[in-house]
Amino acid sequence: MCGIIGYVGAGEALPILVEGIRLLSYRGYDSAGVAVAHDGRLVVEKDKGRIEDLAPSWDRQKLSGSSGIGHTRWATHGRPSRVNAHPQQDAAGDVVVVHNGVLENDIALREELEAAGVKFVSETDTEVFAHLYARLFRGDPVAAAREILARCHGRFSLVFLHRAQPGTLVAVRRGSPLVAGYASGVGLVASDVRAIAGHADRAVEIEEDEIVIVTRDGVAVHGADGARKDRAAHAVTYDDSSLGKGAFPHWMLKEIHEQPDRLADLVAARIDPVHGRIRLDELGLTDADLAGIERVDLVGCGTASYACMYGARAFEALAGVPARMVPGSEFEARAELLGPRRLVVAVSQSGETADTHAAVEAAKAAGARTVGVLNVRASRIARSVGGFVDIHAGPEICVASTKVYTGMLLSLLLLALRVAQARGRGGAALAALRPALDALPDAVRRAIAGHDHVREVAREVHRAQNMLYIGRGPDHATAVEGAMKMKEISYIHAEGYAAGELKHGPIALVSWDVPTVALLGQGDARTKMLANVREVRARDGLVIAVAGEDDADARKVADMILPVPTVDPWLAPLVHTIPLQLLAYDVARRRGCDIDQPRNLAKSVTVQ
Ligand code: F6R
Repeated sequence: MCGIIGYVGAGEALPILVEGIRLLSYRGYDSAGVAVAHDGRLVVEKDKGRIEDLAPSWDRQKLSGSSGIGHTRWATHGRPSRVNAHPQQDAAGDVVVVHNGVLENDIALREELEAAGVKFVSETDTEVFAHLYARLFRGDPVAAAREILARCHGRFSLVFLHRAQPGTLVAVRRGSPLVAGYASGVGLVASDVRAIAGHADRAVEIEEDEIVIVTRDGVAVHGADGARKDRAAHAVTYDDSSLGKGAFPHWMLKEIHEQPDRLADLVAARIDPVHGRIRLDELGLTDADLAGIERVDLVGCGTASYACMYGARAFEALAGVPARMVPGSEFEARAELLGPRRLVVAVSQSGETADTHAAVEAAKAAGARTVGVLNVRASRIARSVGGFVDIHAGPEICVASTKVYTGMLLSLLLLALRVAQARGRGGAALAALRPALDALPDAVRRAIAGHDHVREVAREVHRAQNMLYIGRGPDHATAVEGAMKMKEISYIHAEGYAAGELKHGPIALVSWDVPTVALLGQGDARTKMLANVREVRARDGLVIAVAGEDDADARKVADMILPVPTVDPWLAPLVHTIPLQLLAYDVARRRGCDIDQPRNLAKSVTVQ
């Protein structure tokens, strides 16, 4: 989604803004722009496209100056275009503004401004802020920003720069993340600390309805009433090593390869080696609370919702609590059905997803208990929920989720076991799983080492226009997630189904041109899956089976095999998803797709 960067200091602003935009680009964007204070004017350059393509054509002389703002836009109000890109300006060119979020009373304010003679040039809600600020500014930026907070509704992070005060950036936060940083003689502001980590020594997380004045002398925080606030700054400790792809050609491949270590860290952090108890210290719920839970709703969007499908199964099977997945956008808080015995688990990589956040707020209002299973601690959902489970996967840059998906599965399994323990029934399950959990990172490593098999399959299927993915039990989620990975990065239409559903409709699609990826699994599920694979083969379908390394039957029934180590059935989805991630990656690469930033997608979706 959109990204913000602002700089004021002694050096040239432009290179820092361009670098900041590049560091924010993992969020997904369709246009980018900068504004720099130069010689008494605010010079704007912006357009749709990638910063790598835009920045070289910008006039560095005209953009020479020591303060400015930059932005990556992911279109919500108006198509991607030069005129709709940020920064937006008022008619006189006195004010420039960059904006993340949505202005809800956009229409009313636009009409009011138009009635006063303002002519709008863009379709964006952001332009309203530029005109409004220009009219409200009488020399005191805090007073103008207070008016903005009072008159505007919705979620918005804003940074303004006024021609009359070129050394002052004015930041306002409502709903979308914003951080201000400083070092000697330098002030910065951004929507993500990674954009300023190379230039700021210390940073302040801006909170709801705060106004921050950023100058070369540092940052000054004010409340919505204008009063100065004392806010502690923290050292900027962003791990720079994670900012590089290293030897990997794409973030996605790097993140796939990080999974063994990330999962090993998670197992080590979560299981007390002495007493064998699951450590989830920030749950905010006592054993008595957990024992009293009568129902669990797992809420997430996209890939996170598939993790919830798996989580719901784990809650029912291991903790004996009825549980279901609800897509964030479909969650309805029926007050009479909620209350303190209902646990709503919000699952999200970014912690910013608007639909998931809205579900949490609705659940809270109806008295339910809430826990977030999240990868970003400083996030909106983290602030809303009653308890927190850190997925601990580190920053995920590729828009398509990989390492966070497996981190979500493991975190949800452990949460289900923790609830089981509180209900006096998780001990045996955890004891049985312990050796398998310890062996999990190695099994994932072996699955990654099977990449050559995946490359062969990719060669066979990369020209397909449609694909099917089928699985049973916990691997139903793997099938749906595998199809999601394929469609989002390769643009092949792929659908995932519970394998038993195949003959109730989708089998009509089966043909040699529509490859079917079948997750064979183990035990009874495997017996049924082998029958399903035969059904596909009987209709001349091409079958790629994800099967145990020693599964001789799989070799007899399937056309191609993606071999995986055999692990405990609860951990199998974490291993089985690996060849599907790699397959999507290889197919997308063969098709020449933009793997890390697929079209139309954003890394964090902060609109409903
Ligand atoms: C797919 C993907 C998306 C996200 C979804 C929710 O690879 O990443 O489907 O899972 O947009 O995002 P978060 O997890 O940030 O709430």
